[in-house]
Amino acid sequence: MKKESALLEGERCDSKWCEVRHSGIHGRGLFAKKRIPQGTNIIEYVGEKIDKEESNRRGWARIDYAKKTGDAAVYIFTLDDEYDIDGDIPTNSARLINHSCEPNCEAWIEDGSIWIGAGRDIEKGEELFYNYGFDLESWEDHPCYCGSKRCVGYIAGKEYWPELKKRIAAKNAKAKAKAKGASKKAAKRKSA
Ligand SMILES: C[S@@+](CC[C@H](N)C(=O)[O-])C[C@H]1O[C@@H](n2cnc3c(N)ncnc32)[C@H](O)[C@@H]1O
Ligand SMILES: [Zn+2]
Repeated sequence: MKKESALLEGERCDSKWCEVRHSGIHGRGLFAKKRIPQGTNIIEYVGEKIDKEESNRRGWARIDYAKKTGDAAVYIFTLDDEYDIDGDIPTNSARLINHSCEPNCEAWIEDGSIWIGAGRDIEKGEELFYNYGFDLESWEDHPCYCGSKRCVGYIAGKEYWPELKKRIAAKNAKAKAKAKGASKKAAKRKSA
């Protein structure tokens, strides 16, 4: 049987701390090659530096593309008030890190560069995750399958969780009311 890493041959990872492997959450992910102490700069998130106007344009184009194809992957990372980084380039292995509602990594800026670093001690073999920090603009396009105990069901920054929970409850109530209405109609048809 082929080893899993052989299936992903060719995808290199520019960090001594991690490697690319198949993820049980989505597609490929990055995994710790050895124990990583909390606070370590694991991998830099590299890409094209773009201003906010271009970033917005690409962001909306991405949403249109997602609506057509179902592929809602987003690679734009906020750098500062003026610029973002579009990490959608093959040499940016950090783009493969998946999201979790209970992540082991954090993103931080150091000397004008974006780093994905260890938010806690990470054991060899663990998949690396950070919270993508998405706002609620198109929340329904981003269901979360992280599987953590604290999973809120959609990919969103922690500061949006209270509002997100309200929106999910409203969505569920609407679906429940619709189902109830449909079964009432069916019962009426039967008795007519
Ligand atoms: C930047 S890519 C991450 C790398 C991706 N796994 C790959 O193989 O290309 C981001 C996309 O991965 C998927 N993804 C990442 N984390 C996820 C999660 N917790 N639940 C569901 N999908 C996730 C979503 O489709 C998201 O738009
Ligand atoms: Zn989750």
